[in-house]
Amino acid sequence: MTLDLTVTDATAAAKPAKTMPDAQTVTAVRHWNDHLFSFRVTRPASLRFRSGEFVMIGLPGDNGKPLLRAYSIASPNWDDELEFYSIKVPDGPLTSKLQHIQPGDEIILRPKPVGTLVLDALLPGKRMWFLATGTGIAPFASLMRDPETYERYEQVIMMHTCRNADELAYGRELVENLRHDPLLGELYGEEFASRLLYYPTTTREETPFMGRITDNLTSGKVFTDLNLPPMSIENDRAMICGSLAFNVDVKAVLEGFGLAEGANSDPKQFVVEKAFVGDGV
Ligand SMILES: Cc1cc2nc3c(=O)[nH]c(=O)nc-3n(C[C@H](O)[C@H](O)[C@H](O)COP(=O)(O)OP(=O)(O)OC[C@H]3O[C@@H](n4cnc5c(N)ncnc54)[C@H](O)[C@@H]3O)c2cc1C
Ligand SMILES: NC(=O)c1ccc[n+]([C@@H]2O[C@H](COP(=O)([O-])OP(=O)(O)OC[C@H]3O[C@@H](n4cnc5c(N)ncnc54)[C@H](OP(=O)(O)O)[C@@H]3O)[C@@H](O)[C@H]2O)c1
Repeated sequence: MTLDLTVTDATAAAKPAKTMPDAQTVTAVRHWNDHLFSFRVTRPASLRFRSGEFVMIGLPGDNGKPLLRAYSIASPNWDDELEFYSIKVPDGPLTSKLQHIQPGDEIILRPKPVGTLVLDALLPGKRMWFLATGTGIAPFASLMRDPETYERYEQVIMMHTCRNADELAYGRELVENLRHDPLLGELYGEEFASRLLYYPTTTREETPFMGRITDNLTSGKVFTDLNLPPMSIENDRAMICGSLAFNVDVKAVLEGFGLAEGANSDPKQFVVEKAFVGDGV
């Protein structure tokens, strides 16, 4: 199998006239492996969103009607463009086509952002835990790049678990780039390294850090490895994004630490959102 690992950029690409309602132009595409890719599109001038929210995006379907799916915005709210991180579902109605987009192409983007993974849905605290599997890291790719996250919390811990190491690459590079981010560097200097802690693990491939997020929380391994106290209702806040089974199991673990699920209208200690609907491809 050959993988297209090229980064393409549309700076030089001619922008076609907009042909669909809510059309945005693709500016860059990057394939991370044979089942994951990320891409950037132009941002509608009027689009305001809170980091962590999702929108409906898609392509015209074979019947001419828009074929839309929910996608977390992976870029922070200050970014001039919008970034998305996507799975390629074999025979998936949308992603079997979306994976072929190129800079200069158009996608449909309905500019109505919504979602539960927003800072306002949680009570103030000391530490923020982002808990994700697979493409569930997308909303946290937005929140990790938003300075407001670090204004509200002393420490941010990104736990990301995938089956194999190559599935961690998008998050790993993003965190690495953040460590050299001029804006956050200016705000926090050298201290930033201790403000954002990254805990990637695999479950099916041998790597230095392994295990499910649920197991690493219940065994206390992650607290020992990061030299942190166990979660408490006073200090710890969390956001969960993964498969339904993952969300249900992590929720139970957090409740075991005494944390309760909140919402925009009723902020508490943690919030949950599905990374996709269904049992997995
Ligand atoms: C709130 C929300 C936010 C989402 N954000 C993202 C995102 O940022 N990136 C993204 O890739 N997808 C995201 N999804 C899933 C997305 O909406 C689509 O399901 C996905 O793009 C596949 O579309 P499809 O038409 O090809 O296949 P679909 O018919 O939509 O899905 C087919 C099957 O593939 C599996 N599947 C779908 N998406 C995923 C996934 N991401 N990871 C693992 N298995 C999956 C499920 O079993 C599903 O039943 C999100 C879903 C929800 C509800
Ligand atoms: N990713 C691949 O390489 C791959 C390849 C072929 C097909 N697929 C299919 O694609 C679908 C999605 O795959 P995916 O890897 O993105 O998602 P996934 O199966 O949900 O697994 C993602 C990560 O979450 C962990 N996990 C799953 N359920 C959990 C739970 N209840 N509590 C805690 N951790 C949990 C998994 O650990 P465990 O490994 O311990 O389950 C894995 O590390 C799956 O249905 C799969 O059959 C995936």
